[in-house]
Amino acid sequence: MSRPRILSGMRPTGPLHLGHLTGALDNWVRLQDAYECFYSIVDWHALTTDYASPAAIRENILEVATDWLAAGLDPDRSTLFIQSQVPEHAELHLLLSMSTPLGWLERVPSYKEQQQQLSDRDLSTYGFLGYPLLQSADILIYKAAAVPVGEDQVPHVELTREVARRFNHLYAPVFPEPQTLLTATPRVPGTDGRKMSKSYGNAVLLRDPPEVMRAKIKPMVTDPARVRRTDPGTPEICPVFDLHKAFSPPETQAWAAEGCRTAGIGCLDCKGRLLDHLLHRLEAIHARRPEYAARPDTVWDILYEGSRRARDVARATMDEVRAAMKIQYPIPSPERV
Ligand code: TRP
Ligand code: SF4
Repeated sequence: MSRPRILSGMRPTGPLHLGHLTGALDNWVRLQDAYECFYSIVDWHALTTDYASPAAIRENILEVATDWLAAGLDPDRSTLFIQSQVPEHAELHLLLSMSTPLGWLERVPSYKEQQQQLSDRDLSTYGFLGYPLLQSADILIYKAAAVPVGEDQVPHVELTREVARRFNHLYAPVFPEPQTLLTATPRVPGTDGRKMSKSYGNAVLLRDPPEVMRAKIKPMVTDPARVRRTDPGTPEICPVFDLHKAFSPPETQAWAAEGCRTAGIGCLDCKGRLLDHLLHRLEAIHARRPEYAARPDTVWDILYEGSRRARDVARATMDEVRAAMKIQYPIPSPERV
């Protein structure tokens, strides 16, 4: 009867965009039927890179949670919580750090990549090196059977399995090795053709009303070969066509590809159709969002309640972990309130 448990997390980077929808949220919503879902807003992970500018985190948590609820994550079925409100994650992270070889963390591909990409910050910190191990603690503390993530996170789940195996071998078989539930992540370019990202200023946000979406899509970059309406184009190199692939049905994709190659349609026609499908796809989100946006207290309550629920599970696991590591003493466990 009990559904297998999954856990996933998202950093509180601000209002979510179309890339978050196709890359994670749509899938997370669907998984609620078959799994017991734990979804975490990982504010400590945000601090590993944004430790010098934490001012936005609180507001960003609210934005992310509001978008989650608008997208259809259901707090009655899933546990939606804030990582830092379950401090046991930090305790497990610490205990796992004792037996995790430095080399395992230095080898994670995102480590050097991110350091190079965010070269404006000093990321040669203890916390940043530990990013993937903190993620392992997030997953293992719920004994998650699987972790729904995109391709970029696969090495992190692999590390988690190694960490679990090592713990089980050294102490006692406490942790199942979590599987990766790979989410197909279609390319979602922003309005300038680069990967959609808040920091590039090219993002179409879930909370953008239809007029704003229209205003963003209309001047979107296309195949530069189509200078005039009569110039044929190559859909495969056009970012608008990438969005068709993510949001339009196959018939419309075929219509756009054919019309583009033969100059049978103009780019504005093409974008118009895209918008129709996009707005249709976002209808439910646009309908649900204002209610939550108008009631931040309700959203915080949901996160509070979720964090409490998560904490019960995390505490039970920590009792087992302490026992396995022989740091359980004949006095009550800490923080039994
Ligand atoms: N590292 C993930 C990302 O950047 C976020 C994350 C933190 C996560 N903890 C997690 C994802 C646990 C899955 C499971 O997207
Ligand atoms: Fe891109 Fe569509 Fe214009 Fe072709 S017709 S270049 S696919 S926007």
